[in-house]
Amino acid sequence: MRFDILSIFPGALRGLLSVGILGQAQAAGLIDVRLHDLRAFTDDPHRIVDDRPYGGGAGMLMKVEPFVRGIETIKADSGSNVRTILLSPQGRLFRQSDAADWARLDGLILLCGRYEGVDERVIGFVDEEISIGDYVLAGGEAAAAVVVEATARMTPGVVGKFDSIESDSFYEKPRLGAPQYTRPPEFRGLRVPEVLLSGDHAKIEAFREAEAWKKTTRNRPELLGLSLEETTEDG
Ligand code: ADE
Repeated sequence: MRFDILSIFPGALRGLLSVGILGQAQAAGLIDVRLHDLRAFTDDPHRIVDDRPYGGGAGMLMKVEPFVRGIETIKADSGSNVRTILLSPQGRLFRQSDAADWARLDGLILLCGRYEGVDERVIGFVDEEISIGDYVLAGGEAAAAVVVEATARMTPGVVGKFDSIESDSFYEKPRLGAPQYTRPPEFRGLRVPEVLLSGDHAKIEAFREAEAWKKTTRNRPELLGLSLEETTEDG
């Protein structure tokens, strides 16, 4: 699967996307991450990518033309089953199921905004506007990295058998993963739950299942359709 990222800071993503399983997946040819400098798609000598908003207002907006030229150039050289996403705090929230769906595509083209936002006409050239959470980042780069990592992990072969995606939070069910422990068996009086040391796989599985639901109820009750009051004893 191929990821094309359009940004005015393409170098900012290079390190993060080249380590760990993403680095291994690229070396193995399972994913191909291409970083594009948005300024390469400008047509003026100053390579300007931003301008003042019509109607006034604070700050600068990203211009429509470099993004559209970038999308068209990338599409001319990529597979047909490609999805174009604008990262923005005004988009629909990104979910694990999107990562699973998009991992079946030939490619994702990710557009990173900066400044006060992006000319609204860019939306007409993308499939979707996506946000990674209800907060405002300085730009779409960190959000693009989140989408690439989550989607790459779901690409067949990227996550090996020692790092299973089946025990992940949100894997096929809206709930968190079970708490996990490693050596030592005791640290400052805190003991690893005895059942995990028992070797009894059926009991371990039942324990993990119960703990996963407990943790989801405590930390993310809305995933289970519960309100916070329903999950607290004194509420
Ligand atoms: N750019 C700025 N904030 C963002 C967010 N929350 N999600 C995606 N892109 C963004």
